[in-house]
Amino acid sequence: MSFFGKLFGVEKKLPPIDIANFIQVDMHSHLIPGIDDGSKSIEESIELIRAFKEFGYKKIITTPHIMSDYYKNTPEIINQGLTTLRAELSKQKIEMEIEAAAEYYLDFDFSDKIHSEKLLTFGKNYLLIEVSYLNEPDNIDAIIFELQTSGYNIILAHPERYPFWYNNPKRYETLKDKDILFQININSLAGHYSPGAKKVAEKLIDLGMVNFIGTDCHHANHLKFMQDALCQPALHKLVESGKLMNNTL
Ligand SMILES: [Fe+2]
Repeated sequence: MSFFGKLFGVEKKLPPIDIANFIQVDMHSHLIPGIDDGSKSIEESIELIRAFKEFGYKKIITTPHIMSDYYKNTPEIINQGLTTLRAELSKQKIEMEIEAAAEYYLDFDFSDKIHSEKLLTFGKNYLLIEVSYLNEPDNIDAIIFELQTSGYNIILAHPERYPFWYNNPKRYETLKDKDILFQININSLAGHYSPGAKKVAEKLIDLGMVNFIGTDCHHANHLKFMQDALCQPALHKLVESGKLMNNTL
């Protein structure tokens, strides 16, 4: 970035990353209609999936929230929604490979779920988890241990969106030391969530800690921001790092 670019906060932009070549698979979104805070109807889901296709995605692994308080989803509810969505895609002759897993929130009774049911995973038994935005859960290390001894490979959703870790960069290292995979949100790179999230996402890329990138798409607005995210130098850096595993899914 030039001196004046820095001075006036003008960001350098690069040509957009070609999703069809370099990312291919999205593994974090909320596209099953009516079961969380994502898509509200089958029509909206279809519109979003059409947009994913236009962006160049070849496959979508959609991940509805599972939370004990707000979104009491089960594998049955999610799989039923997936069946309906696939039927509509086929009816409208839209070719898109679509699977479903979940974004599990580490809440008070998550630990019970680990032992009472087979959690929804994708790829190599990857389990997508998120935590509270307010504070680090007291039991996070115990949960990680329980999940790993049960054979799950943990992906932490959007580590750049947890402000309580911003002044504690060592925490990211200890999580990586525990073999936690990191998935950043593509729109964090466009500054969609906060300047802090953008900065931390860029830092994690610089440190070679990012394994997956996801849209975390809840609605069409998220896809609009992506146009900008695709041109960000940090995304180019991530793609060139060779660390990105989306296309292995
Ligand atoms: Fe999400």
